[in-house]
Amino acid sequence: MSALGTTFVLAILTAAVLNAAVLCNGGVTSSFVRKVEKTVDMPLDSDVFKVPPGYNAPQQVHITQGDHVGKAVIVSWVTVEEPGSNTVLYWAEKSAHKNKAKGSLTRYKFYNYTSGFIHHCTIRNLEHETKYYYEVGIGNTTRTFWFTTPPEVGPDVPYTFGLIGDLGQSYDSNRTLTHYEHNPIKGQAVLFVGDLSYADNYPNHDNVRWDTWARFVERNVAYQPWIWTAGNHEIDFAPEIGETKPFKPYTHRYRVPFKASGSTAPFWYSIKRASAYIIVLSSYSAYGKYTPQYNWLEAELPKVNRSETPWLIVLMHSPWYNSYNYHYMEGETMRVMYEPWFVEYKVDLVFAGHVHAYERSERVSNVAYNIVNGICTPVNDQSAPVYITIGDGGNIEGLATIMTEPQPKYSAFREASFGHATLDIKNRTHAYYSWHRNQDGFAVKADTVWFFNRFWRQIDDSTT
Ligand SMILES: [Fe+2]
Repeated sequence: MSALGTTFVLAILTAAVLNAAVLCNGGVTSSFVRKVEKTVDMPLDSDVFKVPPGYNAPQQVHITQGDHVGKAVIVSWVTVEEPGSNTVLYWAEKSAHKNKAKGSLTRYKFYNYTSGFIHHCTIRNLEHETKYYYEVGIGNTTRTFWFTTPPEVGPDVPYTFGLIGDLGQSYDSNRTLTHYEHNPIKGQAVLFVGDLSYADNYPNHDNVRWDTWARFVERNVAYQPWIWTAGNHEIDFAPEIGETKPFKPYTHRYRVPFKASGSTAPFWYSIKRASAYIIVLSSYSAYGKYTPQYNWLEAELPKVNRSETPWLIVLMHSPWYNSYNYHYMEGETMRVMYEPWFVEYKVDLVFAGHVHAYERSERVSNVAYNIVNGICTPVNDQSAPVYITIGDGGNIEGLATIMTEPQPKYSAFREASFGHATLDIKNRTHAYYSWHRNQDGFAVKADTVWFFNRFWRQIDDSTT
């Protein structure tokens, strides 16, 4: 090597060392390394996909919140042989009186697939904090489930959410759901951050896999509401087979109470539940200035009364702060549009999926950058949310394992394992958050943090 070449190599090495010294102040990359195993979908004849017995038996039963405050529930189910009944019978645990609610029926075709009869029924005017039984079906093939309504909305109402994303229907997906079900922290409702069935990974987006997914998760979602976010695997845009209407299977199968929050589409909406105000956004609908989603969010954020619902939580699919090399910066354009609002309104937590791994950020923002001023590095910002990527449900596409090195400063903790999380809100100021990897026992917490509410913290700070 020439002298010039040696100098050049030395210069590069020095730069690399300096770079590492400057940048390597990040958080923790977990030392736990999951065994590399292929993620495989459960076969169609798996127990978890079993069709319930009986002629025209209701299947794929699922519930979600049906209004803005938690006094309504949307019950959905599918019948296959014939339409059957649209009616849901329901009664409070301690009541002998059975009420009836009438739903509606829909079907759709997707290429060479025709769906079963999809029923949606909203039950309204429920009492808060009450266990209800509900019955779907008709004649000899009825099925009964139950749910508990949330307490009345209020600032100090404790409530526990589960967090699941990118679930799919692999053996790992089943492990994730089982771990959530057995977690002693006991989630009362799931905040689901998008990518449900992964049916679109099959030839012609084989919609049979939408049916199997719904039968698989019924054991949980028939008993507690899952709050839905649309991911890229819900788009099902397939012009090559003549399917050009985005979100067709998803919108036929999953209903959300978007009108109750003044939204004009089911992809962005909000609900209140206990002490939380949850805003669901769509990474795959237009979000630029003047778009319906932009206008809705701009009007929505000032409506959040933190004295009533101190915990402001946003769900979206594509993360803004992500230090894996999968989907790196895919959330960037939405971040540019909305991050100043999140800081201004002191959003507490942002949950996203999409990246098939786990990551928790520091409280950071990157709102100062204006193209020419060079201030393009995220900075610590106590008004900013914590960003959590929880796309580790365990779908067929497998884990995201390659990370940006060194770990950027904005990343507090990251690990490439499948799992789920829980957010246990204690009162207006404190919430206990934990992440649970599937390899551990049900009670083991692999990442934990106490969150202090952004709004009430600000008040505390200003009074001390
Ligand atoms: Fe995704």
